[in-house]
Amino acid sequence: MTLSNRTNDSTQSASGRVIWSAPSNIALVKYWGKKENQIPCNPSISFSLDSSRTEMDVTWNYQCHQNNPVVNFKFEGEENKNFALKISNYIEALTDDYSSLKGLSLDISSKNTFPHSAGIASSASSMAALGLCLSSILKQLGHTGSLQEASSLARLGSGSACRSLYEGWTLWGETEALKESSNEYATPLKGLIPIHPNFENIQDSVLVVTSKPKPVSSRVGHALMHNHPYAEARFKRAVENTSALFEALTEGSWEKFGSIVEAEALDLHAMMLTSDPSYILLRPESLAIIEKVRKVREERGLCVYFTLDAGPNVHLIYPEKSANAVKEWINSELLNLLEAGLWLDDKIGLGPVNKLESLDE
Ligand code: PMV
Repeated sequence: MTLSNRTNDSTQSASGRVIWSAPSNIALVKYWGKKENQIPCNPSISFSLDSSRTEMDVTWNYQCHQNNPVVNFKFEGEENKNFALKISNYIEALTDDYSSLKGLSLDISSKNTFPHSAGIASSASSMAALGLCLSSILKQLGHTGSLQEASSLARLGSGSACRSLYEGWTLWGETEALKESSNEYATPLKGLIPIHPNFENIQDSVLVVTSKPKPVSSRVGHALMHNHPYAEARFKRAVENTSALFEALTEGSWEKFGSIVEAEALDLHAMMLTSDPSYILLRPESLAIIEKVRKVREERGLCVYFTLDAGPNVHLIYPEKSANAVKEWINSELLNLLEAGLWLDDKIGLGPVNKLESLDE
């Protein structure tokens, strides 16, 4: 990096490179419905995944007289003008708070470690990586630069992305259940909530029912929560489920944990079924898998639960000690319900990694 000056007022020109790898995350208490400025209508809880990640490599140049950010964007080696425009609009919207961003020219190269449309939120990992890259650049231009700031920047790109900034369990959205909580950024639960060892190394296998793009985007789904007849009841349930999930996580009860997690997944899809217009993202295979999960628990006592994102693919959540049995069961009973027999194994992970420099905690 070359810097003429490290203070934000008098920096004339500077340049450098930042590289961040950020994970996706899976929500157990779901964020669904938002207010202006990506403020959530209810708290949500997730864990960061381990191997499902976006790696973003950004070469940047700052000129204080430049008035608009300039963005070039390559995804997996191919130039993508559509994404470049989305990112430059996003950065432009941030310039009221961060005027230095006006002077930036960015060459962004991004890649994912997981296949597109497989049911893993690539918006979460990519906006988390972008938030981290921007926060690192702002730091080099004399701003504070922190994970909290990066979480807040990520939130403005995609709400759920703000939870991908930390290792392990994370909460986003103000709640009495956690005094450190905020609507603006996510809070890591490490050190705040004692997570029982029964949940150590929790696993997530994503069963790919279809990799086709979903017919209704999450942006539209969130908007349909305005004037939704069950919105208030849903937001109240999410608040209650947040406290109940904290209890389950501290007590170490998989049964309690699983019943909350499955109720949350079904609530999310119930909101879609009962919105106006109504829509359905689940496929017959998604329902068949859900029934099989319930059956294998009842009949064989296998400790495995399901959750769903805003799509048809099913996430199986289970403890590490069930891993062999769950994988055998997928192989023997579920393959015919999956697109090309595809599923992806992941687990709770350690959060973002920076190859070049770190941000303050
Ligand atoms: O972050 P968005 O705006 O794509 O919303 C995603 C919401 C869910 O993935 C369905 C739930 C969640 O909390 O991640």
